[in-house]
Amino acid sequence: MSIRVGVIGSAGRMGSEVVRALEAASDLDFVRGITAEDSLEQLLDDDGAPLVDVAVDFTLPSVTKANVLWLIEHGIHAVVGATGWDDAALADVRAALDDTPETGVLIAPNFAIGAVLAMSFARTAARFYESAEVVELHHPDKLDAPSGTALHTARAIADGRAQANLGPVPDATERDPHGARGADIDGVHVHAVRLRGLVAHEEILFGNPGEQLTIRHDSFDRVSFMPGVLHGVREVASHPGLTVGLENYLSL
Ligand SMILES: NC(=O)c1ccc[n+]([C@@H]2O[C@H](COP(=O)([O-])OP(=O)(O)OC[C@H]3O[C@@H](n4cnc5c(N)ncnc54)[C@H](O)[C@@H]3O)[C@@H](O)[C@H]2O)c1
Repeated sequence: MSIRVGVIGSAGRMGSEVVRALEAASDLDFVRGITAEDSLEQLLDDDGAPLVDVAVDFTLPSVTKANVLWLIEHGIHAVVGATGWDDAALADVRAALDDTPETGVLIAPNFAIGAVLAMSFARTAARFYESAEVVELHHPDKLDAPSGTALHTARAIADGRAQANLGPVPDATERDPHGARGADIDGVHVHAVRLRGLVAHEEILFGNPGEQLTIRHDSFDRVSFMPGVLHGVREVASHPGLTVGLENYLSL
């Protein structure tokens, strides 16, 4: 039986791409899209039973948590691409899932398989290098900086370094009145570029004496996120509870 899917934020840039991908997937049944003008109740039938098994949320940071809590309350699995989740919001989702423990929620800051792999490779490389920095490059309409992916990557590198007992990265900077060294995420510097023409790109730089390793991923088009989203839709029911990051669905 095909999985019945709804898309919240279906009129947006990502949401409309998800609708196209669902319509092209023979094992998935796109039931309906919800725009900002609609009510989530449209995902229920007249008796209040869900019309969908899974809902994909590509809305905005300000509304996504309320949507996810509503989906959990109605026993609908959620695949969430909207960014802006903090620890407190994730804790609220975990608490809500206590009442419907069979429901699965996947929140993924990046659905591009290559970006997830880059993050995983960076975690592996981290313990071997004295220096590590992250550069993320995006289109200028992006609202948050640094990107959720860069944040996640920097934390993974910091984690790898800590496990290997590496100290702070070498950096003799004494004066930086303009913030040229970028953001400091758990001791890893992250630089955000905003440039017309870009979509979503990340470069992870590792340095040792006489050697450099660069891991780079480029999303040239929103279509690059679709295999990851569809994988999430197909898998979410078999992963009850909250999962943060698509890497947890990829057996890496
Ligand atoms: N996880 C990923 O791989 C990934 C990739 C790209 C973008 N994003 C994130 O996805 C989100 C959407 O990005 P976008 O570029 O499509 O933005 P967008 O502004 O084009 O789309 C968001 C849509 O959500 C709609 N919306 C707002 N409130 C709503 C509500 N209550 N119910 C239904 N719809 C509502 C808006 O009207 C808009 O159409 C952002 O948070 C972005 O950072 C995630």
